[in-house]
Amino acid sequence: MPTITFLPFDKTAETDGSETILEVARRLGLPLESACGGRKACGKCKVVIERCAEPLPAPSERELKALGSLIGVGYRLACESAVGRGEIVVRIPEEAVCRTPVVLTSGAGGGTGPRVKPCVRACTVDVPEPVLRSAKGDLERLSLALRESHRMNGFDADPLVLRKLPGLLRTDAGTLTAVVRGGREVIDLRAGRQARLLGIAFDIGTTTVVGYLSDLTSGRVLSVRSALNPQVSFGADVIRRVSLCQEQEDGLEKLRSGIVGCLNGLLAEACEEAKAAPSDVVDATAVGNTVMHHLLMGLDPRYLAMAPYPPVLQGAQDVKARDLGLALAPSAYVHLLPLKAGFVGSDTIAGVLSAGLHRSGTPTLYLDLGTNGEIVMGNRDRLICCSTAAGPAFEGGHIEFGMRAAPGAIEGVRIARDSLEVSLRTIGGLPPVGICGSGILAAVAEMIRTGIVLPRGNFDESARSPRVRRGERGWELVLAWASETGIGRDIVVTRKDVSEMQLAKSAVHAGACLLQETFASPFRRVLLAGACGNYMDPRDALTIGLLPQNPGARILGVGNAAGHGSCLALVDRRKRTEAVRVAGWMEYQELAGNRRFEEIFLSGMFFPPPGESS
Ligand code: FES
Repeated sequence: MPTITFLPFDKTAETDGSETILEVARRLGLPLESACGGRKACGKCKVVIERCAEPLPAPSERELKALGSLIGVGYRLACESAVGRGEIVVRIPEEAVCRTPVVLTSGAGGGTGPRVKPCVRACTVDVPEPVLRSAKGDLERLSLALRESHRMNGFDADPLVLRKLPGLLRTDAGTLTAVVRGGREVIDLRAGRQARLLGIAFDIGTTTVVGYLSDLTSGRVLSVRSALNPQVSFGADVIRRVSLCQEQEDGLEKLRSGIVGCLNGLLAEACEEAKAAPSDVVDATAVGNTVMHHLLMGLDPRYLAMAPYPPVLQGAQDVKARDLGLALAPSAYVHLLPLKAGFVGSDTIAGVLSAGLHRSGTPTLYLDLGTNGEIVMGNRDRLICCSTAAGPAFEGGHIEFGMRAAPGAIEGVRIARDSLEVSLRTIGGLPPVGICGSGILAAVAEMIRTGIVLPRGNFDESARSPRVRRGERGWELVLAWASETGIGRDIVVTRKDVSEMQLAKSAVHAGACLLQETFASPFRRVLLAGACGNYMDPRDALTIGLLPQNPGARILGVGNAAGHGSCLALVDRRKRTEAVRVAGWMEYQELAGNRRFEEIFLSGMFFPPPGESS
């Protein structure tokens, strides 16, 4: 049986020879990048063939194009290369190791203060023992006790709760605590007096997932845990994941079970830190974009990719945790906040809640840049939203040396005006291994300021520096020489990378301009949500023309606004009602086929001339 060994992980698998190297790597759970999900389009799944008992087939056209001279030193694309029939040893190079990104968790937990009004409450009762002359049922005696002590006139009890009742009633001398949801349903029973109630708020991003375990009586966040969304191995963006559901019969189930496993992992870790058990958690909220929402619920997302992009449903949902496969108290509910549209999900609604746009008098532009750019413009009088297909550049996708914001990613760039020498800042201060979204944005902004890149996006070929050179793929700027990097190769910004940034910034700029025109009044502040928005330097955003020119508008980072909104809705049930009102009241502007959007998009492709942008 042929075998394949992956270095530096030292993992070996047997294979029948029909699989690709990527398929075996996935089977072993190895962190190999595959931004396009194995569709041979991204060029990220690089491996180096170290040893091979039988020669592999010659590189395909696609590999030659994606890898260039790297082919000569043994590089291949893992999704393109079959394992073959003999023993093979491959190395996953540094730049192809899928790292867990640094996750933005701040923005949650603050400001909840006294606004705590959870959906669940703990009702402790002393249930009288049955007596011979009136042998009332356990449930009827519990009902009587709840009526007398907590003025509850009738309630529903989940069948799983009923199963616990007889045993619990006969411990602790009949004292027990009923966890009551919405004043109507008993969702858990505990022996004795137990006032502590726990809940967890999830923020399910396309790339990262965060869980905030909270005390529902104080509103305090007890523990925060984050992880890479395991669906990333099937594609970096939502469209690839929707495609998987179209192409493979079990595609939806693969994605659903992946995210459920991830949420259960976060729940277990957060509970361990708080010295609690997952089954102690009696309430949960979840927010995410519409595709993430559908995949968690097991709803077929395929129509989200077809005009007019209808979601299966838009309203807020309360679903039993056990029906989703989540390991909280089995009768607890998970509240999924409402969606607005196919590409404006509950994460945007939660961001609006967190930033308080719907209550503020200040006209505000709210941007959440990820693989899609969600934009909201307005104030308490009117809110308008849209989603722009900015592409993955703001998360380092489609960039030659692009990577997520993980340790070793270049996140800050400065270029000396006279010498064009480059200084870099990397996440964790490690030798650079790639460029993340804020890094590529900073690099392009500096290239504009120093004149290396001209307003049309082309390189100034007369720039006098060895760093500005003609490479295999045309003009490029060397950010780090091979000897300085963690991958042993020069890290460069190519002309194509600059074009990707032009497309991305132009899509966001056009969406923001259009919303501002519709609102018919200029914004007075900009709120940048999400990781890229928070780590980018606002001056860089202005230099590349990401934002409409609006002198005097303040630009602020608001952290993980979606996660914070999820936390608010967890500890304060009034926020759930507010979210439903916002989702219904906020206007949605469709950009597909919008002539005005296309006009602004095309006219915004160039960069502002240096000096005009700030
Ligand atoms: Fe192989 Fe994208 S090219 S996963």
